[in-house]
Amino acid sequence: MRHKPVLLQEVLDALALKPGAVVMDGTLGGGGHAEAILEKIGPSGKLVGFDQDPDAIRRCRALFEKDPRIVLVHENFRNLDKVFMRLEVKAFDAVLLDIGISSEQLADGKRGFSFQGEGELDMRMNPEIGRKASDLLTQMSEVQLADLFYHYGEERRSRRFAKVIVETRRHHPLKTVEDLHQALEKALPSHLRFEKGKRPGWARRHPATKVFQALRIGVNDELEALKEGMSGAFKHLVPGGRLGVISFHSLEDRIVKQQFRAWDLEERGKLIFRKPLVAKRSEILNNPRSRSAKLRVIEKIS
Ligand SMILES: C[S@@+](CC[C@H](N)C(=O)[O-])C[C@H]1O[C@@H](n2cnc3c(N)ncnc32)[C@H](O)[C@@H]1O
Repeated sequence: MRHKPVLLQEVLDALALKPGAVVMDGTLGGGGHAEAILEKIGPSGKLVGFDQDPDAIRRCRALFEKDPRIVLVHENFRNLDKVFMRLEVKAFDAVLLDIGISSEQLADGKRGFSFQGEGELDMRMNPEIGRKASDLLTQMSEVQLADLFYHYGEERRSRRFAKVIVETRRHHPLKTVEDLHQALEKALPSHLRFEKGKRPGWARRHPATKVFQALRIGVNDELEALKEGMSGAFKHLVPGGRLGVISFHSLEDRIVKQQFRAWDLEERGKLIFRKPLVAKRSEILNNPRSRSAKLRVIEKIS
């Protein structure tokens, strides 16, 4: 199923896109935001679209065919400053970062993003570089794993989960989603154990989801990428240009909030709204994924 862009109208309004604007979409995914942005900026606009996932770039290449207004870049948005010269733009009027994972990535069981899937524990958004989740589970010490689950998953059973993983891997390597799932179950009381096919709402709150989130953040170094991506984007905005970030959990939102506040205090930027925008009830009913989305936008002063 194609990824449904979240807070779409809110993004278009808050970025104040005008015909002819030069825009960066740092997270193309299924191309939904990009498609709507292209419509707004009209025939004289330009869109530079990044995604670190080669599948997303392939999909967007097919979607936008030969639209001369769009440049597709297979890169992590954290490298914007390094590749900027190659993009042949002077600066951006607006940048969007819709971070996290796409429905396409989640649905592809082979990539190991979902604890309800059955594939290998990979979780790399760019499968061409870096360590897989299964490598972290093999190579990290018990203390490192507990810290990872605690800091990136805010999981209070972090120590218990780390212990059971280290005990399990002594005789059985954790290579697949199923392997990790079975190991985690050993650390849970019976009423919390997961049965495949159970209510999806219940599955969302299952403790393993936090472990999966923590591993994904660790594998893709998502929080550092976000910090670097925001500063690269802010640097390459025109004065009066806007940066919008959509985040999906409190760890990310805290980083965005703090950075935007700092720019606001330094009078380098102006917050477009104090509180983040969230999805309306009607959008949440239509797209449950939008329930945790938060949009913050800043306008660059200098
Ligand atoms: C939530 S989806 C974006 C959905 C998109 N806005 C749409 O309308 O379909 C996130 C996408 O951003 C990509 N991504 C996440 N972090 C990234 C990063 N640091 N650099 C580049 N792409 C990233 C993921 O690979 C994924 O395809």
